[in-house]
Amino acid sequence: MGDCCEEVVQFDLLDLSIQKIVNKAKAVREKAYCPYSKFAVGAAILCKDGAIIDGCNVENVSYGLTICAERSAICKAISQGQKDFKSIAICAEMKEKFVGPCGACRQVLAEFNLDMDIYLCKPNNEIVKTTVGKLLPLSFTPDWVSFSS
Ligand code: THU
Repeated sequence: MGDCCEEVVQFDLLDLSIQKIVNKAKAVREKAYCPYSKFAVGAAILCKDGAIIDGCNVENVSYGLTICAERSAICKAISQGQKDFKSIAICAEMKEKFVGPCGACRQVLAEFNLDMDIYLCKPNNEIVKTTVGKLLPLSFTPDWVSFSS
């Protein structure tokens, strides 16, 4: 990633609620089902009421059916009656890089809150902070269409 849309943050200086989702994303990553890519990803969402919902990537032998960690967490949240999302932590490991959500996941996150904070984390607790809106400029959101409430 460039340096336009993310800032480095210190784990110790984050709110406890954010430290919690970072830890959750790290922990749920261990549960990822990724026998094909062997690339495990964990995500944890902080809802506005304080609830935390996690998810991991779930792959399939029909590769295109893979569900990313972020969408897996969003689907769990919706089925638990949550849709007011404040922040999401995403944990993956790719040497010197921070792993950002794929384009499909950015769009799914944008459905709910363009201002959602995103914390991209490595297992060693290096973290950068960004937002859905920064990662998806000129986005297509529900307020654009007349059939949404
Ligand atoms: N993946 C995620 O779960 N989230 C991301 O942000 C990037 C990619 C997964 C999908 C697939 O199971 C594996 O990582 C390799 O692409």
